Amino acid sequence: MSDLISKLPNVGTTIFTVMSKMAAEHNAINLSQGFPNFPVAEELKSEYKKVIDNNYHQYMPMPGSPKLLIEVAQKLQLHYNRTIDIENEIIITAGATQAIFTGIQAVVNKGEEVIVLDPSYDCYAPSVELAGGMPIHVNLNSDFSVDWNKVEDVISKNTKLLVVNNPHNPGGTVFSQEDIEALEQIMDRHPHLYLLSDEVYEFIHFEQSHISVHTREKLINRSLIISSFGKTFHVTGWKTGYLVAPEPIMKEIKKIHQYVVFCVNSTAQAALANYLPKADLGQLGAFYMEKRDLFKKLMKNSRFELLDCQGSYFQVAKYNEISDLSDVDFSIELTQKHGVAVIPISGFNKDKHDDKLIRFCFAKDEETILKATEKLCKI
Ligand SMILES: Cc1ncc(COP(=O)(O)O)c(C=O)c1O
Repeated sequence: MSDLISKLPNVGTTIFTVMSKMAAEHNAINLSQGFPNFPVAEELKSEYKKVIDNNYHQYMPMPGSPKLLIEVAQKLQLHYNRTIDIENEIIITAGATQAIFTGIQAVVNKGEEVIVLDPSYDCYAPSVELAGGMPIHVNLNSDFSVDWNKVEDVISKNTKLLVVNNPHNPGGTVFSQEDIEALEQIMDRHPHLYLLSDEVYEFIHFEQSHISVHTREKLINRSLIISSFGKTFHVTGWKTGYLVAPEPIMKEIKKIHQYVVFCVNSTAQAALANYLPKADLGQLGAFYMEKRDLFKKLMKNSRFELLDCQGSYFQVAKYNEISDLSDVDFSIELTQKHGVAVIPISGFNKDKHDDKLIRFCFAKDEETILKATEKLCKI
C-alpha cells in the first residue's frame, strides 16, 4: 500500500468540534457552536410530516425541487428585486457549506489565489486548497470592519476570487453602504476577479440593514451568492441552502454539483417549498434582536466587554478585565470551570493571532440565556 498523502495537511479537528465535545463532557451550557436550541416553526414541522406521508422519498432533479426553486426565485424578487433565470442561475445545495465548496471548485484553478478575510468561517480556505488554489488571508480591522486598501494591496493577476461574508461570523458586522461601494470599486478596477458572497445570515441584522450583493447590478454578473435555509429557519441539521450565480459560472458549478451530491435531500426540499411562501422572513431580524438585547442586558453587570453586534447570531466579547490567558485557554477554563462553552476568535484566524476575544452564540432559548449569563456574571 502506498503512503497516503494528505491533501489538507494543516487541517485538524475544528475548534467547533473540540469546544462542543468539551461542553458535553463538562455538562457546560453550549454557547459555542452556532445552532439554535429552540423549536422550529410548527407549520414547517407539519409540512415536513406531510411530505413524509406524501412520498417525497426519491431523487429530486439535480438542480433542486422545481417548486422550491420557484419559491426561492420569488423571495429573491420580493426581498432584493432580483429576477433570476431559474433554469440557469440557481441550485439547491446541501447547506451553504456544499455551495461554498462546489462554487470554489468551479471557479478556482491550480495555482490561483483567493482572498479570504480573517477571522473567517472555516470552510473557505480548505475548499480553495482542494481546488489547488492558494488562500491569501487578509486580517480585518480590530472592530471586524474591512480595510479595503489592504484587500486591494494583495490583488494580483493571479487572484481569481474574493470571498466576503456579510453579515459576518464571528464579528457580527454588517457591510455599510460605503463598504459595498468600496467592494464595487475594487471589483471594477480588477475585472478578472470573481466574488463569492456568503450571505447565510442575510435576514439576521439589527440597527444596520443588510445590503445584499443580489441588489448590486455591478456585481451580480461576477458573483456567487450563498444562502442557508438552516440559518433562516433554525434547521441547521437539514443542511439545505442555495447558490445563485450567472449562467456561465452556474454551468460549471452544476457539472461539479452532480458529482458531489447529484441532488439534495428530497423531503427537506419539499417541506421548504411548501413553507417558504408562508414564511415572513422580515421578522427574523427582530426575533434575534430580542435575543441579542436580552443577552446584552443580562451581561451588563459582568466583567466582559461586549463588542457591537449588528448581525448574525454571534456576540464577541473582550475578557481582559478577567484574565490574561490566551483566548483558547480562557475558553477551556470557561467551559471546564465555569460551565459555559464559547469559541476563541483566534480559531478563525489563519495566523492564529490572539486579540483576547471570545464568541458567544445567542441563538438560544430564554432559559439557556438566563442560566449562561448568570454563570458568566459571577466570573
Ligand atoms: C458564515 C457561514 N457560512 C456558512 C455556514 C455553513 O452553513 P450551512 O450549515 O448551511 O452549511 C455557516 C455556518 O455556521 C456560517 O456561519
